[in-house]
Amino acid sequence: MDDEFSQTATHFPNPFRLLVRDECGSTNDELRELARQGAPEGLVLLARRQTSGRGRRGAHWFAPEAESLTFSVLLRPNAPKAHWPRLSLAAGVAVAEALEACGVPTGIKWPNDVWIHGRKVAGILVDAGENFAVVGIGLNVNTVNFSPEVAEIATSLKLATAHEYSRAHVLTEVIRHLDRHKNEIDNQFPVILSSVRRLCVLTGNQVALKTTNGPLHGTVIGIAPGGELLLETKDGLKSILQADEVRIKPFNNMK
Ligand code: BTN
Repeated sequence: MDDEFSQTATHFPNPFRLLVRDECGSTNDELRELARQGAPEGLVLLARRQTSGRGRRGAHWFAPEAESLTFSVLLRPNAPKAHWPRLSLAAGVAVAEALEACGVPTGIKWPNDVWIHGRKVAGILVDAGENFAVVGIGLNVNTVNFSPEVAEIATSLKLATAHEYSRAHVLTEVIRHLDRHKNEIDNQFPVILSSVRRLCVLTGNQVALKTTNGPLHGTVIGIAPGGELLLETKDGLKSILQADEVRIKPFNNMK
């Protein structure tokens, strides 16, 4: 196992355990395959290098080797499957709170991008199978140079604080917080909701959304009891379950 991570799993709560690979195409894809072969809940697959890391909406996930964390976590939730999409919010909260525990205040750009000072520090991609869910997390820890496509919108813990962070420590904190929140997608969902509401950077802002039903504009007034985004539009209040893109509008451009 990679030296940097050799002791990491000993700090993981049960049932989490760590599998480190030098190279993966996508940790989400490879962990899905392991899940189909019967791998147990709690397996964490971390790649030192991802050659085809996937972001939401088919985007590529940029992650320079040795500077960032790219990993996926296998869960086998007991909750009804209708509630599994809530894992996406649970994971966002887990990452945001883990970074807070590392001393870095963050926000959540609904549904689950983790932001520092208006830039993205972590992204989450949840893939569900028949009897498992894979929570993929990309976290910019010590990255200082981003690809031109994301340089304007991305940040890292190091860029935001001028400190270098132990990737193993950050990973352990994320797993600890995910352990707490993974079982709250059913009856305890209000616990996740209150964290999303506390951390949501969109509330009170004018936003432009791209949804499958077309573009929407309005003011975010909060998060609904099911985790949806509540948007006040010129046609009334709308509850948004999913959006392809959410953009905060500059203050003087309210069209
Ligand atoms: C996003 O677009 O914000 C989601 C990015 C998710 C990236 C992570 S990196 C580890 C895991 N493996 C993947 O292929 N994607 C996720």
